[in-house]
Amino acid sequence: MTVAVVTGAAGFIGSRLSEHLLAAGHQVVGVDSLTPYYARAIKEDNLRTLRDNGAFSFHDIDVRELPAEQLLAADAVFHLAAQPGVRPSWVLDSFRTYLDQNVSATHYLLEALRAAGSQAAFVFASSSSVYGEIGGEPVGEERPLRPESPYGVTKLAAESLVRVYGLQFALNTISLRFFTVYGPRQRPDMAMHRFVQSALTGAPVPLYGDGAQERDFTYVDDVARALTAAAERAGELRGQAFNVGGGRPTSVLELMDTVQRLTGRPLNVERHDAPPGDVRRTAADISRTSLALDWSPMVPLQEGLEAQLRTVEDRLARGVYGGLTVGG
Ligand code: UGA
Repeated sequence: MTVAVVTGAAGFIGSRLSEHLLAAGHQVVGVDSLTPYYARAIKEDNLRTLRDNGAFSFHDIDVRELPAEQLLAADAVFHLAAQPGVRPSWVLDSFRTYLDQNVSATHYLLEALRAAGSQAAFVFASSSSVYGEIGGEPVGEERPLRPESPYGVTKLAAESLVRVYGLQFALNTISLRFFTVYGPRQRPDMAMHRFVQSALTGAPVPLYGDGAQERDFTYVDDVARALTAAAERAGELRGQAFNVGGGRPTSVLELMDTVQRLTGRPLNVERHDAPPGDVRRTAADISRTSLALDWSPMVPLQEGLEAQLRTVEDRLARGVYGGLTVGG
């Protein structure tokens, strides 16, 4: 039995990863300060089944407040806590929060592990947004990193710290660059969640730009498998970064069509200009990841989308999203 610290455990990916770790027999120390980026009721619902598990403990605190003995007792630290979102990161006042949550908090954890001579695996949740515009070909990890949003800049800064601490101080650090993760509990500001909720409720939904932009959507359970594989191999792969992408870039228009087909309901679309930093295409070359982590994505888009749809229906029925109901 090993002990894992999961920061951001009340979030979309963190809660799902925690369930995977518990199912595999590990103990999980969840840390999450329940920041107000989206509704607390949704995060509480993410934690619902976890809280009943005796091998899970939860700390409603900033990662920098986790007692050192808890951090240093971990065999693996999965650092998923962050200020997310590409589009809101342009809001002037919010940049301080992106810097604090994404860069300073990561630096704090790395420094605490370095000072204690920790041999724990440290797995950092990086982002496809570190690449910026990529053109036509799937992007490999060696590509120059030119983020196009303040969010992407902070993820790149944090990833750089993760690399430096791995290489200079022999910490077992590794970064995974996630490509637009989706599935049950997806964050409510993300496209797929909004489209599904809008189809089910009839509420209008924004379409940014012409809808021809593509994303390499990646299913959350595939991401959880990549995270655990990375923790197992962090010692040999120290300081490196790997792409974690679904393998089949899909346009936003195609995604909308699929949502309409699966729900049997039309989307009430409101067109908006593309916001700055919203790249035309993401596409991951996952060949290095497949070799190094023995990982490849397994869940096709329609299957993952159906699972997400069922979760949104269930949450609407239970009023988790604050009173919106199916057909309402
Ligand atoms: C997502 C996450 O939000 C980031 O946290 C993550 O780091 C990033 O993926 C990543 O891959 O690195 P994004 O690709 O913008 O960012 O994901 P969505 O919010 O699902 O947006 C996908 C596309 O749909 C974007 O082009 C966006 O403009 C569009 N969209 C989104 C809409 O047209 N309408 C909406 O209501 C929401």
